[in-house]
Amino acid sequence: MAMGVVSLGLLLLMLLQPQALALTSNGGRLQDFLRLPSDNADSRKRWALLIAGSSGWDNYRHQADVCHAYQIVKNAGLKDENIVVMMYDDIANNPSNPQKGVIINQPNGKNVYVGVPKDYTGKDVNKNNFLAVLLGNKTAVIGGSGKVISSGPNDHIFVFYSDHGNPGVLYMPSGERLTANELAQALNKKHDARAYMGLVMYVEASYSGSMFEGLLPTNNGVYAMTASNATENSWATYCPGSPNQPPPGYNTCLGDLFSVSWMEDTDANHPGETLAQQYEAVKKRTTTSHVMQYGDLDLTSQTLGNYY
Ligand SMILES: *[C@@H]1O[C@H](CO)[C@@H](O)[C@H](O)[C@H]1NC(C)=O
Ligand SMILES: *[C@@H]1O[C@H](CO)[C@@H](O)[C@H](O)[C@H]1NC(C)=O
Repeated sequence: MAMGVVSLGLLLLMLLQPQALALTSNGGRLQDFLRLPSDNADSRKRWALLIAGSSGWDNYRHQADVCHAYQIVKNAGLKDENIVVMMYDDIANNPSNPQKGVIINQPNGKNVYVGVPKDYTGKDVNKNNFLAVLLGNKTAVIGGSGKVISSGPNDHIFVFYSDHGNPGVLYMPSGERLTANELAQALNKKHDARAYMGLVMYVEASYSGSMFEGLLPTNNGVYAMTASNATENSWATYCPGSPNQPPPGYNTCLGDLFSVSWMEDTDANHPGETLAQQYEAVKKRTTTSHVMQYGDLDLTSQTLGNYY
């Protein structure tokens, strides 16, 4: 009887003051029950930073990987305001493109160029801007849309980088290369700024393991998966002359094996698969290099849907 009265009172209060309750309740059931459209956005955002570090028709595959990654994060429900795309953007309308305005990431695949935001293109895809965007430092950005990862302590961040690499460096389409130490420093800075709850970074590049090996702490909430270990190349796929070749007219590879492996796995198993399960699936399919994990492996028990 007494319980019933209390519940009724609470229910009335909820109906009258949903906002006040949502603000004061600490993740209880009432809050879930009463969640307003704006609550989700305020409590925990997902962000994505997607970058292709190359340019030119021969490197079609890196920008194709990044466009496909954009479709994945978009499908996962991330908003464009929380997605930053950095790509040279010389592929879709390249004179060599047999399908003008179209980018595909697998033979007979759908057009992954649709809707891709042009945040940073051409010469604006460079090391300075990549680090400024990652760190959420608007004043350090030069050119581009000015969009940055202005994340907070409860947010989840996904970073995907597709490009060429060498020991300890990732390339950029213009300017200097990004060194492993610069990346490690930026990630530490992001951690010290309490600017994420979890950060997942996938890197497609030769020698990509060398970007993290011995540099990524195991307790900072940053988990990295790389296409190759510190001492080997990573490889393209869907290349002319290979078993799964591009349609006629394409004289370039459509993707990279590690990249299409995680993305096609995501397309098939989103959102419930865990990051650990994805690593196993990607490792199994990527037979031409050693897929590696670095950093905070605790994150791998989380599902893909937490990030993308
Ligand atoms: C942001 O970038 C500007 C310009 O490079 C720099 O002076 C400033 O210290 C940076 N802010 C933070 C919080 O790192
Ligand atoms: C890294 O790759 C090279 C070349 O494929 C291989 O010989 C080596 O055993 C690998 N090391 C690790 C730790 O996977």
